[in-house]
Amino acid sequence: MQDIRQNKHHTNDLKLDSAPRPAHRMRRMRKTSALRSLVRENHLTTDDLVFPVFVEENATERKPVASLPGMYRETENSLQDITKEAAAQGIKAMMVFGVSHNKDNVGSDSMNRDGLLARMTSQAKDASPETAIIADVCFCEYTDHGHCGPLTNDGDVDNDRTLDNLARQAVIAAEAGADIIAPSGMMDGMVAAIRDGLDQSGFTDTPILSYASKFASAFYGPFRDAAGCSLGHYEHAKKDRKTYQMDPANGNEALREAIIDMEEGADMLMVKPGLPYLDILYRIKSELQMPTFAYNVSGEFAMLKAAAEKGLLNYDDAMMEMLLSFKRAGADGILTYAAMDAAKIINEG
Ligand code: PBG
Repeated sequence: MQDIRQNKHHTNDLKLDSAPRPAHRMRRMRKTSALRSLVRENHLTTDDLVFPVFVEENATERKPVASLPGMYRETENSLQDITKEAAAQGIKAMMVFGVSHNKDNVGSDSMNRDGLLARMTSQAKDASPETAIIADVCFCEYTDHGHCGPLTNDGDVDNDRTLDNLARQAVIAAEAGADIIAPSGMMDGMVAAIRDGLDQSGFTDTPILSYASKFASAFYGPFRDAAGCSLGHYEHAKKDRKTYQMDPANGNEALREAIIDMEEGADMLMVKPGLPYLDILYRIKSELQMPTFAYNVSGEFAMLKAAAEKGLLNYDDAMMEMLLSFKRAGADGILTYAAMDAAKIINEG
C-alpha cells in the first residue's frame, strides 16, 4: 500500500483563488465590541445571583473558611452586615446555612423557634427586608451524625420521619421570615409534606425551591468543611449519602425527580451541582419550563480559586464565563459563592 506521506506536493503550485469564498462570514459581527454586544444572546445580571452564606452559632468573630477563599463563617451580627452589603451590590436573594453547636440525632434545634435556623433567618430578614431570604431546609447541619434526617436502626435516613420534621422545620423558617423554603435533603415526598405544613400554618404564599435533582457528588467537599456537617461520627450510620442523593450517571432519573417535585407543588426547581450537570439543567429547563436554578457548588468554586491562586487562570474572567454558562444552559438563577465578586464586576460595568 502506498504511503500517503510519499505523495508530496508543492504548496506554491496550489491554485488557491479557485476555492469558493465563504458565503457566511460569522466574523462580521465579532469585529467590534459594539457589534458583539448587539448580538449577545445571554447576559448575567445581579438579578440572577443568589448568595449563600454560613452563620456560626455563638461565634464572636467571623472566620475565613479555608476551603472557600473569600468566604467566611459569619457571626450572627456580621450576617447582618453581609446581608446589607449584598443588597447594596444589587443581590436580591441570599441562602443562609447554619453552623450549629447544638446538634442531636434528629436536628431538633432547627425545629425550635429560638434555634439557629430561626434566629439567622430573622436576623438576615431584619437587616435587609427587601432581600429574599431562602432557608435551606435540611437536617445535616443540625444532626450529630451529619445525615439529612433521623436514622433508622440500620443507619439509613428514615424517609417518612424526616418528612414530618421537614414540615415542622419549614414552618419555623417561614415564621422567622423566610421568603422561600428550599428543601435539599432529597427525601421522597418532601415537597408535598412541606407544602402541606406551610398551608396548614397559613403560609400558603410561601414558595418552595426544591433541590429536585441533587447528586451524590464529590464536589460538596468544601461545603461540609464550611458547614461542619461531615459524616462518619456514628459507627452504624451509612458513610455516604448515596441512598438519598442521586447517582451521577443518571439523566432520565433527574428529569423524573424534577417532574415529581413539580407535581408535588414546587414553585422552582434546582439542579445541583452545576457545572458537571449542565446537561441536566438544560433538559429540565427545556422540558418542564419551570423556574430553574443551578447550584454552583463549593467544589466548583474551590477549583477555580485554587487554579487562580496557582496563576493558572484569571479568576474574574473564568468565574464570569462559568456563571454565564449557567444562563446559556437555561438557568433563571445561580447560587454561587462568587455572587458578591460577580456583582461587583457587573456593577463596575
Ligand atoms: C445539605 C447541603 C449540602 C450542600 C448544600 N446543602 C451538602 C450535602 O448535600 O452534602 C452543598 C453545597 C455546596 O457544596 O456548595 N443540605
